[in-house]
Amino acid sequence: MTTVGEEVPVEYTADELLASHPGTEPLIVGGVRCHGGFDQDGAYVPPRTLNRVPAIRAWQAKRLAETGTPILDVPLETWPEHYPNLGQARFLLEQGVSQPLVSTLTRIGTVEGFGAAIRHVPLPDLPRCFDEDIEGTALAHLGQGLYEAHARDEAGFEAAAGHQQMWFAARDIAFEGPVDEVAVQGILARMGFGNRGSADPAEARRQAIAARILPADVPYDLEAVINFMARVLLIEISAFHTFAWAESLLSDTALVAGEGDAARIVSYIRQDETPHVEYLKTALSEMRDRTFVGESGRRYPGTEMVGPLWEAALAQSLGAGRQQSLAALLNEVTLALSERSDGADILEQFHALGSVRPAPDGSWAKTTGEPLTY
Ligand SMILES: [Fe+2]
Ligand SMILES: [Fe+2]
Repeated sequence: MTTVGEEVPVEYTADELLASHPGTEPLIVGGVRCHGGFDQDGAYVPPRTLNRVPAIRAWQAKRLAETGTPILDVPLETWPEHYPNLGQARFLLEQGVSQPLVSTLTRIGTVEGFGAAIRHVPLPDLPRCFDEDIEGTALAHLGQGLYEAHARDEAGFEAAAGHQQMWFAARDIAFEGPVDEVAVQGILARMGFGNRGSADPAEARRQAIAARILPADVPYDLEAVINFMARVLLIEISAFHTFAWAESLLSDTALVAGEGDAARIVSYIRQDETPHVEYLKTALSEMRDRTFVGESGRRYPGTEMVGPLWEAALAQSLGAGRQQSLAALLNEVTLALSERSDGADILEQFHALGSVRPAPDGSWAKTTGEPLTY
């Protein structure tokens, strides 16, 4: 490790950033060994945070000292509440309708697992992309431990389960019974994940290049990295609503099984997410604060590069992306109610408890009548 000033290391090897606290008691859920563990006082310790958490703090302090600019962020209040909200979810369970919630937890676990793709995002030659040096930054460590730690947290590593499996375990504890692979595939296909992975990667790249926002002179891989990180960061930030929602719902022992164990698993996952949010915000800010260098040698202010990409990701997340997930979840509710003679009544009561509902033409609006704008 190399230090700046007193004793704040800002250079790490990948092994150092992947190191976990020694001597923790493993977390075992329903016989499955999960990542993370408990210290001597019984407090949960997220995996791979021995050096990663102090490292991120050191990079943040260094960035702030060098630039004085605020870190890229978006307030959690920007995000609408989870759909279905707590009242709607509880109402469904009271009516004996659990499938939409099983589907919701399956979807969350699956999206978490997709986070592992971050380790495959091609990184351009980063030092060449910026006028200023990138030594001792989160940016310089993306391909040197940070992406890999993130991927392992989300999808598990070796014998230890990660978030994907932990959400599935929470679901199976709360709703008493594992959901088999066929059922999972059905849920995912209905919720819009059915064709994932089948697209031709070369064609997908051509389409992405055609839809670029930044000047063609800026390396495409750099734009793709920023886009990917912005999207993942927005999922991570909005997930904090999901955690609060899931912890409340799954700790209600009158409505779900497991005596609160499912909610405890979600609380461990939540604690693991903080380093993801922090390193992504830091690396995006470090890029924004630098000068981009195009292939031609032309210089571009980082604010004019990262800003529009961040705004586009935000608009997608709160706009089309949200509409898609609202529609997918409502479809799970109507499907679950389709066999019930009182289905129409239950659906109307479900809508009445929500803050948003669809119009007959399928467009969504707030229950106050205002349109869903961002
Ligand atoms: Fe996660
Ligand atoms: Fe995460």
